[in-house]
Amino acid sequence: MKIAIGNDHVGLELKETIVEELKKRDYEVIDCGTNSSDRTNYPIFGEKVAKLVADKDVDLGIVICGTGIGISIAANKVKGIRAAVCSEPYSAKLSREHNDSNILAIGARVVGKEVAKMIVNEWLDAEYEGGRHQERIDLISEIENRND
Ligand code: RB5
Repeated sequence: MKIAIGNDHVGLELKETIVEELKKRDYEVIDCGTNSSDRTNYPIFGEKVAKLVADKDVDLGIVICGTGIGISIAANKVKGIRAAVCSEPYSAKLSREHNDSNILAIGARVVGKEVAKMIVNEWLDAEYEGGRHQERIDLISEIENRND
């Protein structure tokens, strides 16, 4: 399993915690930065991760900023991306099972490290259920195509 991860300066410390967790699972991690605590802009890193996911260079992506919101909005601008901001494990699991989320967004100012690890693990353990959910995913893709 190959995972791309990206963050702004606010998300740097939580990124390091999550990377350790991913390595425990023997995942290959593609770090899209930033790796500096200097102030930067989250869209840069949201797009980098989203491109890798959309181009299928990686299986999934994780993005982190202060709230998870800005970087998820940026990632969701890339066609084929379904980035879900999650602050607890239940939504993370359902975002995979029902929404086929391909990027998980976390707010470093919102959740602590231990909850973030639980969110990541629930998300990675869950599988897309398909079935009735596919019709909805297809409708989302149609919105993308209509608004290209
Ligand atoms: C940076 O201060 C902050 O705005 C950013 O990390 C994020 O929370 C935006 O959504």
